[in-house]
Amino acid sequence: MNETFKKFFIQTYGCQMNLYDSGVVISLLEKEGLKETDEPECADIIIVNTCSVREHAETRALGRISSLQIHRREKAWLQFIVIGCMAERLRNSIPGVDFFIGPKEYDRLPETIREIVSSRQYGVSSRQYGVSSKQYGVSAFLPVMRGCDNFCSYCVVPYLRGSAVSRRPDEILDEFNYLKREGVKDVTLLGQSVTEYRFNGVSFPDLLGMIDKESHDMRIRFLTSHPGYISDQLIDVMAECPSLCENIHLPLQSGSNRILNLMGRGYTVEAYTDWVKKFRERIPNIAISTDMIVGFPTEEDQDFSLTLEIVERIGFDFAYMFLYSKRDGTKAGKIPDNVPLKTKKIRLQKLIDLQNRLTQRKREQLVGEEVEILVEKRSTRNNLPMGKTRTGKEVIIRSQESGVRSQDVKMGQFVKVYVNSISGWTPVGKIL
Ligand code: SAH
Ligand code: SF4
Ligand code: F3S
Repeated sequence: MNETFKKFFIQTYGCQMNLYDSGVVISLLEKEGLKETDEPECADIIIVNTCSVREHAETRALGRISSLQIHRREKAWLQFIVIGCMAERLRNSIPGVDFFIGPKEYDRLPETIREIVSSRQYGVSSRQYGVSSKQYGVSAFLPVMRGCDNFCSYCVVPYLRGSAVSRRPDEILDEFNYLKREGVKDVTLLGQSVTEYRFNGVSFPDLLGMIDKESHDMRIRFLTSHPGYISDQLIDVMAECPSLCENIHLPLQSGSNRILNLMGRGYTVEAYTDWVKKFRERIPNIAISTDMIVGFPTEEDQDFSLTLEIVERIGFDFAYMFLYSKRDGTKAGKIPDNVPLKTKKIRLQKLIDLQNRLTQRKREQLVGEEVEILVEKRSTRNNLPMGKTRTGKEVIIRSQESGVRSQDVKMGQFVKVYVNSISGWTPVGKIL
């Protein structure tokens, strides 16, 4: 049986946590002697890692799961595995799937994968996170906690990922040092509400301080921060630790206090703007990004005007903007979804137009600046090296202008760049 399984194909939807988890699955399957392929027709095992956060995310994954079924015709032994949040929410109601493994079962992932591959039982126990996640390139994710207890009224995550559990600091540091040895230069710490991290008295800012001590010539970021769990200590640590990037993703969701209250977010627009002010005072060039939901039940024109107003006033570096999607089983799912789809779409387009202008303005502000770029890849258009600033903005390096040839620029290298223009959407600079 084992001999028939040679290759696997994996497709990932959803958040960074899913990308990380897919990396764990890849590591586990490679340990069993299988190789990853990007051609599903060549695979003996097909895995789809799914997301349930909005209806659209589920529709896309369901479409993919269904179209991938065609490969069964050629291969009777094909094993089809669905993991991620839809495996938890819709298990057994998706046809053509041999195994569902939801996030709450990931602590048994090594055994489950081994059982599927070998169709034999193993008695070996392994902790969740006992395996490193296969990740590529100079940047990587590192989960520091899993699950969420916030139960924002619109959100399915707490139901699917379970209660918040923080990892042991020593385990996190071990994995961090492993990534460092592998040559990773930019590490993003992950958690659904990462600033709520706490393990035996070690708070999130404490953890950041511990990781910073281990980082030399590295960049540390984290996702996602709930505005209700920001502290002065966090801002101090970010301002003081050299490896911590001037970068925070702080989902606001709405500019109306009435809607924020219905969302169960636990903060006001005023409290949010106070934190933004503090961040900018202590870390002047910090990039602040956000998530916004448009068309939450009962949202009126005046609520939406407040959203436009605050987005403009704060001037986010970028934003993910979503149409509200009703999720069964959530608290908001019981409120009639009364904003007509047409109105939701008009509002979303207005918000996107506004944010695009703001995003472009932020990019233009880079022109004339000297920035540190971590070289991560080559541009698909012209093969020039490119990378990100500490604030997370992509910059293309046109190296011939400075006498340094582009083939001499190495991936994973930090270079000082002078930004002199914008090409389309992307700033372009030369090496100093
Ligand atoms: N834990 C993170 C991310 C949650 S999901 C956080 O709390 O920020 C990512 C984003 O999806 C959320 O910030 C929210 O803007 C959006 N989202 C979640 N549920 C949604 C729903 N039912 N409809 C529309 N957008 C939703
Ligand atoms: Fe969902 Fe809120 Fe938890 Fe984020 S903090 S995962 S939006 S419940
Ligand atoms: Fe989606 Fe689950 Fe992540 S619902 S956003 S994959 S936590």
